[in-house]
This record gives sequence, C-alpha cells and structure tokens, in this order.
Amino acid sequence: MSEDLNIITGSKTEQYQALFPQIKALLDGETDLIANLGNITAALKEQFGWLWVGFYLVKEDELVLGPFQGPVACTRIRKGRGVCGSAWQEMKTLIVPDVNAFPGHISCNSSSKSEIVIPVVLNQVMIGVFDADSSEPAGFDTIDQLYLGQILSLIRLS
Ligand code: SME
Repeated sequence: MSEDLNIITGSKTEQYQALFPQIKALLDGETDLIANLGNITAALKEQFGWLWVGFYLVKEDELVLGPFQGPVACTRIRKGRGVCGSAWQEMKTLIVPDVNAFPGHISCNSSSKSEIVIPVVLNQVMIGVFDADSSEPAGFDTIDQLYLGQILSLIRLS
C-alpha cells in the first residue's frame, strides 16, 4: 500500500473503522515488532491528534519507553507506579478521565489531562503497555478501549 494514511472525519467509531484496515495493511508482511509499534503510534497520532501515544515495553522489572509519537517522556516506570505501572500490575486496561485524580499518576507532560493504558499481551505474555494521553479531560472511553484493543491484537512477535 501507499504509506499515506487516509485521514477521515466523522464519529470516533467511524474514524477507528476507517483506520483499522489501514493499520492492518501497514503491518501485513512486516514481522519486526519495533517497526510495527512505530507505525501504529504514527497512524493513531495522525488520525486522532492525541498529545502522546506510544508503548512501554517490559524489560526485567521495569517498563521502558518504546516507540511513541509526541513530546519527550519518562523512560522507565516500575511495576505498580503511575497509570502504566498499575495497568501492568493489574494486567488490565485503565481509563483515566482526570489524570490529576489518579493517585500516583506520573506526569510526563503538564498538558496531559486524561489517559488510557492497555496491556499488550502476546502468546499469553504481557510484553508491555499501550499508552495514550489527551490534552482534553475524559478524552478516552470504552469505544477507544474496544477499537484500540482490536488494533493491538494485530501485533505479532517477530
Ligand atoms: N502518565 C503515565 C506515564 C507515561 S506518560 O503519560 C507518557 C503514567 O502515569 O504511568
């Protein structure tokens, strides 16, 4: 496919439904994990314009910053710390409508107002988390959880 994304307007669901086949096409035939995580972040940033979108990958006892789009971010997060470390510890998706109300939230950027963190599980092993930050309060909901989960299910280990 062409590497140009077709960016669409419309409801959030319509945007995800248009984006999904494009991300699938970008990942098809490419087995390198980092390359694919990079393109997922770029496609989501381009479509939705979130403040920050990226991955933290499990390395020994920490999450370490992986491919991302947006402002510079903290590089290492311990299990149980912040939204990312909590999602890792609890192995569950966390939707945070107001980051300032989340105990222990790690503020990498003062413009971040809301956040979603989703575990990335391959072959029953959690290899990291997906993280998106919005400069709007309550920027994420269960629609994002559903469609981002579908996008993350396209990830394969090389
Ligand atoms: N806010 C996250 C840290 C990562 S940044 O948002 C990119 C957290 O509390 O874990």
